[in-house]
Amino acid sequence: MSKDVIIACDFPNQTRVLDFLERFGHERPFVKIGMELYYAEGPAIVRLLKARGHQVFLDLKLHDIPHTVGQAMRVLSNLGADMVNLHAGGGSAMMQAAIEGLTRPDGSRPLLVAVTMLTSTDEARMHNELLINKPIEEVVASYARTARDTGLDGVVCSPLEAGGVHAVCGSDFLTVTPGIRFAGAGTDDQARITTPAKARELGSDYIVVGRPITASDDPAAAYKRCRDEFLGLN
Ligand code: C5P
Repeated sequence: MSKDVIIACDFPNQTRVLDFLERFGHERPFVKIGMELYYAEGPAIVRLLKARGHQVFLDLKLHDIPHTVGQAMRVLSNLGADMVNLHAGGGSAMMQAAIEGLTRPDGSRPLLVAVTMLTSTDEARMHNELLINKPIEEVVASYARTARDTGLDGVVCSPLEAGGVHAVCGSDFLTVTPGIRFAGAGTDDQARITTPAKARELGSDYIVVGRPITASDDPAAAYKRCRDEFLGLN
């Protein structure tokens, strides 16, 4: 399985994302399109970035009744994204409907991963606001097990939980991990974070990196540093 860095292209419109990607020259990094960009530009932005040669993770985090999610996934599947996601909190019936909706007539489908607990949610918030009174690692592992048993390809979780997820779900079950910061940098609104090198040590399969690259004066250099650290190339 190939490990990679996915750049979270959290930009307000197409012009901004294309200006940003321009700075990578001929390189075509794996990109993540989130709600902001998708809601601004619609499905065309997925088709455009695919046509330009990028792999695309469409991060819309669906969470609704099974029928609605299944039908929505049918639409997303036709856009050509390589990876899509939903919230594991929607339950196994919703995840099952999502797989059915995503599967194309030829049997192919994008990778489907489930968000376990947002990396901006720490254990205190989970206890006090979500009223889930278990250790966060246990909650993440349980959500991951349900996702795996339903047939999903992996989960989105903190790199700090990647080892625990692999222990429960096996090494082939993907861990896609946001909450990455370079050593010594600020955390922004993220709570459960680590560095690219540490994420590698902990067994992350894909790291999702936004502001450390998008807000950098030299995004291509920040991306290279991230990849080198994560893939152990330096
Ligand atoms: O800028 P930053 O590196 O914090 O961006 C992280 C990206 O990963 C954002 O696009 C955010 O929506 C996404 N994400 C996350 N935590 C999750 C799932 C997705 O931070 N559990």
